[in-house]
Amino acid sequence: MPPLLSLFSNFADLHKESFMTDQSLRGFLKMVESDFPADFVRVSGPVRRELDITSSVFEFERNGKSPVLLFENVEGFDNSVVTNTAGNRRLLAAAVGVDPDDLPLAYRERCQNYQPVEVVGDAPWQDVVLEGDDVDLTKLPIPLHFQVDAAPYITAGQITARDPDGETDTVGFHRLMLKGKNRLGLSLHSRRRMYEFHRRAEAKGEALPAAITIGIHPIHYMGSMAYHYPPNVRKYEIIGALFGEPYKVATCQTNDLSIPAGAEIVIEGEILADTNEPEGPFGEFTGYASYRSTENVFVAKRIQMRSDAIFHSVASGTAGDHILVSSISREAEILNALRRNLPNVSAVHVPLCTVGALMAIVQMKKTAEGQPKQAIMAALGTEFYVKTVVVVDEDVDIFNLSDVMWAVITRTRADQDVTYIHGAMGAILDPTSDPENHTVTKVGIDATKPTGRDFAERLTISDEQRSRVQDIFRQAGIEL
Ligand SMILES: Cc1cc2nc3c(=O)[nH]c(=O)nc-3n(C[C@H](O)[C@H](O)[C@H](O)COP(=O)(O)O)c2cc1C
Repeated sequence: MPPLLSLFSNFADLHKESFMTDQSLRGFLKMVESDFPADFVRVSGPVRRELDITSSVFEFERNGKSPVLLFENVEGFDNSVVTNTAGNRRLLAAAVGVDPDDLPLAYRERCQNYQPVEVVGDAPWQDVVLEGDDVDLTKLPIPLHFQVDAAPYITAGQITARDPDGETDTVGFHRLMLKGKNRLGLSLHSRRRMYEFHRRAEAKGEALPAAITIGIHPIHYMGSMAYHYPPNVRKYEIIGALFGEPYKVATCQTNDLSIPAGAEIVIEGEILADTNEPEGPFGEFTGYASYRSTENVFVAKRIQMRSDAIFHSVASGTAGDHILVSSISREAEILNALRRNLPNVSAVHVPLCTVGALMAIVQMKKTAEGQPKQAIMAALGTEFYVKTVVVVDEDVDIFNLSDVMWAVITRTRADQDVTYIHGAMGAILDPTSDPENHTVTKVGIDATKPTGRDFAERLTISDEQRSRVQDIFRQAGIEL
């Protein structure tokens, strides 16, 4: 049977090894196809790797849908491609086992119950081994996502590496530009652990041993986007916390890094020291072509993969697949940080239209003047990508941006309630950040009513009155 056709008949076999069904990309695909068939689209007709894959996701989004898309026939390649595994809040919530509205809260609580990993000896990605001249990344169906992209990009590459000055490893997505058979360009612009580990290795004049995992469960995706955790905690321990059980990992061959046992494809290699080459442009989460990059280089030494490996691709740009998890993790991290000092903070929303990153709306029951400013400072200090914080009262629906704007425009006194912080660390990819040093001016807007004195009374219509008029029109046969 050709690998693509055998893909889903293999699920019965996969049941034998519970770690794969529970913690692998395949385990997730199986759950979606059986429990949410309307959210699983299998495309058997031919598609091109140039543009077709990511633009399909945008076409569904334009129609208000966000299914997982499995392309079984990518012209010129053997492997199937799956995309948009993390663009649908309902599916992410189902993977975690909670209601969609409870996802940030569940994320916040579970991420803290760190679970040590379980190391297993064998993993299905050890089936095919390619070394030396056989290493050829151009044989993988790496999509070109946008016309402006400099080359095809691996967007679902989870890179893992260990701290050169310690024991802790990290894992996270970093865009990877196809440059040749064994060469990838990368940008470590988020300046978190991987950036720091590479900097520490480079300071010793050494390359950073690293490995790229392609094909992961969305719970791994979510756990890898945790931002606030102690320095000695491994991301794999956070992913285990989200799974509610130890994450199963196996060990690389050319180095001793840990890789998820359920992975589809593993590329072992290193991020070079003192080597910078042009990387990008690339269609980024900001909705802009990004020409900014740290211009690092990864050299592949060995590829291992399942014999029928599914190539996982994250739809880039502003697709939900790219920004929904960022938004959920920021909501959770900011809520967690704020509640340590301000138990009267009720909710946080990082809207997708602010690219899941650049603005946080905080809802609180203000009991004392100054609390909104305290919340603004804490929120900005928690997540450096956030550059605007708006604080509103409890009567404002933070998931309804019209309601938030109404509060801003009717409750904010510009001279007293707007706070600027100049020269703060911003996101390199934010087009407003300084082109040289990437700082931004951050702004906090206190849109809460004053305490201790009368303020204009908000108009309301009671639930009782609403149901009365609904009845009137129902009885008259008029649809509201
Ligand atoms: C799809 C996707 C692609 C990403 N690409 C990059 C990237 O190219 N460079 C980067 O520095 N961060 C990127 N990020 C953000 C990092 O994955 C994220 O900040 C992660 O927590 C960094 O992990 P680390 O602490 O191991 O560096 C991306 C995130 C997502 C969801």
